[in-house]
Amino acid sequence: MKPYIHLNSAMTADGKIATKDSTLKISGHDDLIRVHNLRKKYDAIMVGINTILIDNPRLSIHKIDSKKEDNPTRIVIDSSARTPLDSKVLNDDADTIIITSDKAEKEDIKRLSKKAIVFSVGDDKVNLAEAMDKLYEMGISSILLEGGATLNYSMLEERLVDKISVCIGSKILGGKDSVTLVDGKGFDKEECVKLEIEDYYQLDNDIVIEYNVLY
Ligand SMILES: NC(=O)c1ccc[n+]([C@@H]2O[C@H](COP(=O)([O-])OP(=O)(O)OC[C@H]3O[C@@H](n4cnc5c(N)ncnc54)[C@H](OP(=O)(O)O)[C@@H]3O)[C@@H](O)[C@H]2O)c1
Repeated sequence: MKPYIHLNSAMTADGKIATKDSTLKISGHDDLIRVHNLRKKYDAIMVGINTILIDNPRLSIHKIDSKKEDNPTRIVIDSSARTPLDSKVLNDDADTIIITSDKAEKEDIKRLSKKAIVFSVGDDKVNLAEAMDKLYEMGISSILLEGGATLNYSMLEERLVDKISVCIGSKILGGKDSVTLVDGKGFDKEECVKLEIEDYYQLDNDIVIEYNVLY
């Protein structure tokens, strides 16, 4: 058994989820409120290590009225246990789980274990399917996946994502340096992930589309 997984992201009209320096706000205020209300509904929020290193997010509910107990558990996919000890994701707003692989140094795991629950699955990269099974056993039955592009790809490749919401901000970035919603090596035409529109609506000058993932 695995948790129910909902991938949520903001992207530009040309599918980019961040500028090279990650400073662009892609969607508007109403979308931020939507995301923080969404966070309240999930047991955990999950991101890849690059998102932690680049954006240093808190991954808590702080844009709407809420209590500390409402904060979901934070999960970081981090093969080498590189999460810096002063990352906001390790503050005491909520519990944090760092999932590493066997390549992580024991010392780094020991260092992180003072601030987070750390477990290892996989030889080189984190084995995501095993990680999801283990999280389910730990009582996490729903996860909001908040990127970035590399983790989004692997989660889709492993067919672990059940639902996708994208907020399309009315901006275009262009260029090859900005990450897109899903990077990775790409799917061929047989493997490409098929989606079914469940809902869509306008927020400010943005559009939110919610999809069921059919595979
Ligand atoms: N607009 C939005 O909504 C949004 C949301 C989130 C992020 N972002 C942006 O996305 C960018 C970061 O995305 P990113 O693609 O560079 O990185 P990422 O997806 O955040 O992290 C990827 C890293 O996770 C680790 N990992 C371990 N096991 C993995 C596995 N099985 N599959 C995939 N990754 C695994 C790898 O590093 P190790 O091998 O070192 O473990 C990998 O390089 C930032 O610029 C951020 O601003 C945007």
